[in-house]
Amino acid sequence: MRRFTIVVHGGAGALASEERGRAAAAGCLEAARIGHRILAEGGSALEAVQAACVALEDNPLFNAGTGSCLNEEGRIEMDAAIMEGTSRRAGGVAVITGVRNPILVARRVLDRGRHVLLAGEGAERFARAEGFAPYPPSLLLTEAALDRWRREREGTLPPRPGTVGAVAIDREGRVAAATSTGGTSGKAPGRVGDSPIPGAGLYADDAAGAVSATGHGETILRAVLSRYVCDRMAAGLPAQQAVEEGIRELGRLGGEGGAIAVDPAGRAGIASNTPFMSWAVIEADGRESSGHRCRIP
Ligand code: GLY
Repeated sequence: MRRFTIVVHGGAGALASEERGRAAAAGCLEAARIGHRILAEGGSALEAVQAACVALEDNPLFNAGTGSCLNEEGRIEMDAAIMEGTSRRAGGVAVITGVRNPILVARRVLDRGRHVLLAGEGAERFARAEGFAPYPPSLLLTEAALDRWRREREGTLPPRPGTVGAVAIDREGRVAAATSTGGTSGKAPGRVGDSPIPGAGLYADDAAGAVSATGHGETILRAVLSRYVCDRMAAGLPAQQAVEEGIRELGRLGGEGGAIAVDPAGRAGIASNTPFMSWAVIEADGRESSGHRCRIP
């Protein structure tokens, strides 16, 4: 039996307040507990990261699902993806609206196996054909997201990067990653970030580990950050060193963000180059840790 572990993040960026930071860390821990329970009962890493991600999407504190930020037209357009490391199957949706949990639609894309990524109206049509009930975007909208959007337009707040994600390894040594986001606040309509792109916003390979990224999507895409981190774990680096190298690479390209990882030995990695990043880890023995800072020197 292998050491199973789950790692969750709730996004990287500026720290609004200590109170907000603590609440985000608590939200991550709650999501990690849901995923950990699945692993402890013998469930797969894929099921665990999906369940953790649903909990994060349903928590209005986070910029994913309910609580997603608004684009420059004041609309919610979400990106999400999920990947498993045994056959490296992946499913993703981009620029989707009208669903409560984009990660569940992404999972269905993975299960169907015909495509890896569906975007926009096609993604929403796929969701309907698969039986996902229409979910009014007004229910995804929170007062906080609207207030933030208004203040950004007035130029009194910097845009908030942020994403949620989870990575896990199960008892069989299978790894998986999931990432979901409302994207960057004030983004252009139709903009796709890193989150739904395998290699950029997430990656999973049983031989290397699993990674989920957060932060400035355009730079994460150019860095192919999650695959970059996975390649370092494949070369033998522990997850923590691998994410630190990845974040340094992101910084070299001028990007801000963070990443979480789990390696084949069940070790966790968490790093960011931002003042704030919420995260939680639960190991096989039930040991829990969480926080809202993981900036590397
Ligand atoms: N990392 C989230 C985004 O840029 O969309």
